[in-house]
Amino acid sequence: MALNISPLSVSRANALSDAKTEIKNLNLYYGKFQALTDINLPIYANKITAIIGPSGCGKSTLLRSFNRMNDLIPSCRTEGEILLDGSTILGRGVDVVDVRRRVGMVFQRPNPFPKSIYDNVAYGPRLYGIRDRRELDQIVEKSLHQAALWDEVKDKLQQSGTALSGGQQQRLCIARALAVEPEVILMDEPASALDPISSLKIEELMQDIVKEFTIIIVTHNMQQAARVSDFTAMMMIDDKHSGRLIEFDDTQRIFTNPKDKRTEDYVTGRFG
Ligand SMILES: Nc1ncnc2c1ncn2[C@@H]1O[C@H](COP(=O)(O)OP(=O)(O)OP(=O)(O)O)[C@@H](O)[C@H]1O
Ligand SMILES: [Mg+2]
Repeated sequence: MALNISPLSVSRANALSDAKTEIKNLNLYYGKFQALTDINLPIYANKITAIIGPSGCGKSTLLRSFNRMNDLIPSCRTEGEILLDGSTILGRGVDVVDVRRRVGMVFQRPNPFPKSIYDNVAYGPRLYGIRDRRELDQIVEKSLHQAALWDEVKDKLQQSGTALSGGQQQRLCIARALAVEPEVILMDEPASALDPISSLKIEELMQDIVKEFTIIIVTHNMQQAARVSDFTAMMMIDDKHSGRLIEFDDTQRIFTNPKDKRTEDYVTGRFG
């Protein structure tokens, strides 16, 4: 008789072989306050992982750990391990500039530079030493295509990025992040400041680009997490107000048959 292997276990088995980046036994402190406790989270290559949970449970803090953005907060201290392609990104010997090129970030509010659309996208490549005009032209066009913005801006590349609509500005910021060819892209509520149509555009482009990248998204929008992500990490605060990962699974499982009652309450909107 054939073994009864559910689609869930098949997809998990495939995915398990290729964790792109991984957090192991992470404890994170802001001064004396422990914001994250005992976090273990694998992030699979070419998949979208959503991080969900109530306000203040440490989603943004966890997201910023993946490219050491927390280093910019003087009171922040980290214990544990964070791996990228199996190598640690923590410690003094690691080139943080390189980590942040490999692991890019898109923020909640669109924040284009007060420069032309072209210069916004070319900014990162120039910073990394690319000067050749034709090469820059190609990068700008490719990145704007990937961010599903090219058709709307191809005739006005010299116009200021800040003159675009909010949704276009956010896609410009995504193009800017993609231009340095990161491997992982961190998105902290990238669509929460946008109207529903712009928000759907962001979701569609995420599903397009994930073939080439690995994406981690923080979102408060449960429909968005359910629609867009392959895996979901559910966070909660414990009685010391420290953020813990309470469940990580295939998104379908989290939304249809979670193991933890708190996850069920949260994704069905019963959580206060
Ligand atoms: N720079 C900081 N210094 C001190 N404490 C901080 C800092 N940033 C966040 N915290 C604290 O860490 C905890 C987690 O915050 P974080 O911003 O990661 O939560 P979050 O899940 O992203 O919340 P939200 O959904 O509201 O964005 C909170 O208690 C917060 O007050
Ligand atoms: Mg946050």
